[in-house]
Amino acid sequence: ARDDAEENGTRQTVSVVLLAGGKGTRMGANMPKQYLPLLGRPIALHSFQTFAHMMEVLEIVVVCDPSYRGIFEEAAKDVAVPVKFAIPGKERQDSVRSGLNEISSSAKLVCIHDSARPLVLAKDIRKVLKDAAIHGAAVLGVPVKATIKEAASDGFVSKTLDRKYLWEMQTPQVIEPELLRRGFELVEREHLEVTDDVSIVEHLKHLVFITEGSYTNLKVTTPDDLLVAERILHQGSAQG
Ligand code: CTP
Ligand code: MG
Repeated sequence: ARDDAEENGTRQTVSVVLLAGGKGTRMGANMPKQYLPLLGRPIALHSFQTFAHMMEVLEIVVVCDPSYRGIFEEAAKDVAVPVKFAIPGKERQDSVRSGLNEISSSAKLVCIHDSARPLVLAKDIRKVLKDAAIHGAAVLGVPVKATIKEAASDGFVSKTLDRKYLWEMQTPQVIEPELLRRGFELVEREHLEVTDDVSIVEHLKHLVFITEGSYTNLKVTTPDDLLVAERILHQGSAQG
């Protein structure tokens, strides 16, 4: 993988914005969920370390409450990549913005990742980085497995959506920094609604590519997700 990055000129071109500024309300633990232990390490350090070992990564901007910086500072001692910090905002989007302000001007892509997704695989990160380099914006997603129906306000089914067009969005969401900055300006000027990072870019009418990722890249939201994540990690190490 190291040689890959050398060969195709993507070495140290990506700024990672690692989002760890949430409160984890739905988890209901005594600390934000991204700091709960998963196989002996805080959840947030799993993806931190995955990114830290990739040659494509120029720097990691951790968006977290200052009282939790020590966790990342400690982990940063074992890796070569520079680590910066940004202050979280009220909504996820405000945290993204805060992180974007800290990235190096030499970054060709900004890679936004939820620290609540500890199981993201380096191979999937590389795929979405490649697609973003080609298209300007790309996001990891997986085909929806369930049947999804739309309900009317009376509670009855109004529509069955065609599953073959439905994708569940994950992170990383990878975007050219200038495109993301322009998107933020537009969203603010016109008070547009934003559900995820790439939807900012959609408002600019820029096409966003969906890179097919893995179902194992789950987001830890409630306590049962943590159990599933543990099981997946155990299986991974059993298979080597
Ligand atoms: N996040 C953030 N800043 C916020 C809100 C969320 O950095 N103001 C981050 C979270 O830390 C998480 C990711 O965005 O890694 C996805 O958010 P979510 O899963 O909703 O986490 P929380 O907001 O912490 O959880 P909850 O909604 O249950 O409170
Ligand atoms: Mg939330």
